[in-house]
Amino acid sequence: MKVTIIGLGYVGITTAAGLSEIGHDVVGYDIDSSKVKTLKKGTSPIFEPGLDELLKNNIQRKRLDFTTSAEEAIHHGDIIFICTGTPSREDGSADLTQVEGAAKTVAKYINGYKLIVEKSTVPVKTAQWIERTMKLYLKKKVDFEVASNPEFLKEGDAIRDFLKPDRIVIGVGSKRAERLLRELYKPIKAPIVVTDINTAEIIKHASNAFLAMKISFINMISDLCEATGADVELVAKAMGMDKRIGKQFLRAGIGYGGSCFPKDVKALYYVGKQYGLNFELLKNVHEINESRIDVLMEHLKNALWNLKDKNIVIWGLSFKPNTDDIREAPSLKVVKRILDEGGKLTLYDPVAMDNMKKVYPENHPYIVYARDMYDAVKDKEALVILTEWDVFKQADLQKVKELMLTPIIVDGRNIYKPRKVRRMGFEYYPMGRP
Ligand SMILES: NC(=O)c1ccc[n+]([C@@H]2O[C@H](COP(=O)([O-])OP(=O)(O)OC[C@H]3O[C@@H](n4cnc5c(N)ncnc54)[C@H](O)[C@@H]3O)[C@@H](O)[C@H]2O)c1
Repeated sequence: MKVTIIGLGYVGITTAAGLSEIGHDVVGYDIDSSKVKTLKKGTSPIFEPGLDELLKNNIQRKRLDFTTSAEEAIHHGDIIFICTGTPSREDGSADLTQVEGAAKTVAKYINGYKLIVEKSTVPVKTAQWIERTMKLYLKKKVDFEVASNPEFLKEGDAIRDFLKPDRIVIGVGSKRAERLLRELYKPIKAPIVVTDINTAEIIKHASNAFLAMKISFINMISDLCEATGADVELVAKAMGMDKRIGKQFLRAGIGYGGSCFPKDVKALYYVGKQYGLNFELLKNVHEINESRIDVLMEHLKNALWNLKDKNIVIWGLSFKPNTDDIREAPSLKVVKRILDEGGKLTLYDPVAMDNMKKVYPENHPYIVYARDMYDAVKDKEALVILTEWDVFKQADLQKVKELMLTPIIVDGRNIYKPRKVRRMGFEYYPMGRP
């Protein structure tokens, strides 16, 4: 089938690569011409394991191409996916201007029946706005439909999640739209849940808010564990063994970040408020998450007394392992707080340092970017861990101890066994553990 993808971010690129991989003829379009240029060469502008290979293979097979021509892109696909960003506005509501921009582009160049599918995470009733925008800006009488097909991929596992999802949700207003989307996803073996459009939009928002709630719940319990000398890791382990609860997203620590959970929790809270509903639960989820930074900073100050002129190293800048994405990453807040308190920072991450340099440039007077994780810890007074990369889990801690000026670890991700690291001579500050 002929497919067009509008918006080539984490979701758009993965969708383009995934749909071409299962045999469709895909064209990707973005207003950012530098991204398109990079993608045309078969290189991904984002770090995502396996993505480069998929792009190269499918470009070679002539099933995948990228363009900066909106006209060419819109003419190509019978199905057009909108994968543009939906960031937060100041008041927490979703900023849908990129989605509106995409709809206007489709309206301008549409040349025959198209199924316009929103893949971006959007508040309920956004499809109705897309339809209205299309009608307002259409210059000729052309048949089209809007459907919802939310994306559930996780960065770092995006390709696997796309090709082997737990379920595919399609929200449609007609049998024709359902038939088209069923055919599109035929090669993927996964249950398909067909709903109306509003329901599909809510499914995605509710799923993300629920996962964020699980994380904040265990972090709330983590505070109780810290206050009473209990161990949140054991609480979470035993809770997670209950099949009704499940162990995923039940890890205490520095909290959730990324481009989805923070904005989606806020956006759903806003939607609830719009309808006069009590969605205070989501406000608490957000507040508990924000307070993680205070907890970690308290640990750091308990360890170092004052931060002024202290040499502190951070391992892990991305919001989670296996991605270079630092959007809403806890590292951004922790770096700011340490600098505000007069600390000097050395930063290390296996892949996210280039993105961090766009926020804190290399010539920053109080920040050094380290070449490798062991160089980073040399002569430092505390090591702060903010991302659970495998390389940090498997670090040679004996070497780390010898290199550091004072062997202090503040672990925002609980990646080490407290007894073991303390036996090695570290002062170790995990989250919610005695
Ligand atoms: N990142 C994830 O893990 C993830 C997972 C599931 C769902 N989502 C949702 O998918 C959507 C996209 O997320 P993302 O992380 O890929 O966003 P992103 O910000 O990385 O990418 C958005 C892209 O859209 C482009 N764009 C903006 N306006 C455009 C227009 N009018 N025409 C063409 N291109 C335009 C931008 O240049 C950018 O390249 C969001 O709604 C997000 O919540 C994201």
